[in-house]
Amino acid sequence: MSQYHALPVPPMSIRFDQSAGTLSPEGPTLTRRMSDLEGLFRDHAAWQKAVADGDPVVYSVISSPVPEIDRELPQSITTIQPGTTAGELWMTKGHQHPNHQGEIYLGISGRGGLLMFDGTETRWVEMTPGTIGYMPPGWAHRSVNIGDEPYSFLAVYPGGAGHDYGWVLEHGMGLRALSGTDGVEFVDYVEG
Ligand SMILES: [Fe+2]
Repeated sequence: MSQYHALPVPPMSIRFDQSAGTLSPEGPTLTRRMSDLEGLFRDHAAWQKAVADGDPVVYSVISSPVPEIDRELPQSITTIQPGTTAGELWMTKGHQHPNHQGEIYLGISGRGGLLMFDGTETRWVEMTPGTIGYMPPGWAHRSVNIGDEPYSFLAVYPGGAGHDYGWVLEHGMGLRALSGTDGVEFVDYVEG
């Protein structure tokens, strides 16, 4: 008998319906509106205006029922809507894992990017359907939609990793991803 006999969830399969954007069975879901991204866009006035003009949904995260606890391996699917705020591409809040552990993302649909920052260096991985992006321990990560349709990706991460969103507010991400004439272009995070 397994020493882990008190498993929170049994072995199972989880179905992703891409057209409906649902997981079955499904765990917690969250929706991030523009108002949830305070302090993250470089143009504060443009962010305020977007909040006042309908506070659009920027991204949503649907999770499987696998819990975020040690030794478990939760999964979630994030969908970022296409859009820009004063030229800055719509993105996730970004986070660091307080308990430094790695993570993978798998691009499912749309075009996106994975911005990683270890406090000194910044790395960018372009994400298309089928791309696996790897985040080593200690690298904060943010996803960006660089296309004109929703960008969806699967995340698989250690259940004990945790999410520290304040780290990005304090340290930034090294670079910002803006919409450019040739796609994405980058500027320093704290440029004036
Ligand atoms: Fe993460």
